[in-house]
Amino acid sequence: MEGSGSDPHRLDEEKAWSLLLFLAARARAGDPFVGATAFRVGDDGTVVEGSNGDGAVTIRPERDAALEAELELAPAVREMLELYLPLVVGRQSSELVVGHLGQSLDGQIATASGASAYVTGPANIRHLHRLRALFDAVLVGAHTVERDDPQLTTRLVSGASPTRVVLDPTLRLAQDRRVFRDRAAKTLIFCREDATEARACGEAELVAVPGRGDGFDLHALLAALRRRGLRRVFVEGGGITVSRFLANGALDRLHVTVGSVFLGVGRPGVVLPGIDEIRSALRPRTRRFLMGDDVLFDCAFDR
Ligand SMILES: NC(=O)c1ccc[n+]([C@@H]2O[C@H](COP(=O)([O-])OP(=O)(O)OC[C@H]3O[C@@H](n4cnc5c(N)ncnc54)[C@H](OP(=O)(O)O)[C@@H]3O)[C@@H](O)[C@H]2O)c1
Repeated sequence: MEGSGSDPHRLDEEKAWSLLLFLAARARAGDPFVGATAFRVGDDGTVVEGSNGDGAVTIRPERDAALEAELELAPAVREMLELYLPLVVGRQSSELVVGHLGQSLDGQIATASGASAYVTGPANIRHLHRLRALFDAVLVGAHTVERDDPQLTTRLVSGASPTRVVLDPTLRLAQDRRVFRDRAAKTLIFCREDATEARACGEAELVAVPGRGDGFDLHALLAALRRRGLRRVFVEGGGITVSRFLANGALDRLHVTVGSVFLGVGRPGVVLPGIDEIRSALRPRTRRFLMGDDVLFDCAFDR
């Protein structure tokens, strides 16, 4: 039976998103689905577990989140589930660190002046909001807050906004940034222990961690987040921040979305220490997805 628009059992994008939020909630609670399970989603978005028959989808986390559906899924729905399922089911999903960068064909995430809007298209912006909704925390570097003054909320999709985490080792960010004052979500500012001198941070909470010459110990920082119940962390940028996570073996996955544009010398995306031999290169397992006019590379690393 082909999935037609009038089929009441049809799993459309909205229902698929409800299913993903349901699965993410289980992963966030430390109790992810680890065995093959069938689900059905009602018209009101309610997810019923263990129900076979018309409209059911079976997810097999042990087979890299393989998907089987009783009804033929629309290609966009299947792609959506295939992209996000590995983030929300399986043992690894209860503690997960995923990064994202939207970059040009010449590897830049922003112009030299820091402008980064429209490097990638609207579908990728919605993808960012979806990732925020699937994670406990969204983490960015100080330059991103300084340049973009982002809200880091889920305003384009359903699902709660995550805790916002900003890495600002010397507390140099101006207090007028939205994360300090808009109360749209809880905000943690990570700084070095020697930088705290009783500094006010608006609505945000300061967390002091040991600093090293080359920045925070990211594994200690992730442990500090876990102690606060933030076990699923989405690293949204910019390039310096994501590169440090990658260089320190602290990412499970990195989404690199490439827009069809050349920016010239600007702010680079991933920059890693150089290597001499190709065989020493970091070669993640990679899947590719079309996202509007952009191409997303989903890179999985063994941590
Ligand atoms: N296209 C995209 O996907 C995307 C995403 C986000 C941002 N952007 C753009 O990218 C630009 C900002 O990116 P960026 O690469 O310049 O900077 P960034 O990653 O936003 O911020 C880097 C700064 O954050 C702090 N930091 C990051 N990791 C740290 C660590 N492990 N330990 C200690 N401190 C750490 C440091 O602050 P200190 O300098 O104080 O030491 C560091 O210099 C902006 O123009 C923004 O618009 C693009």
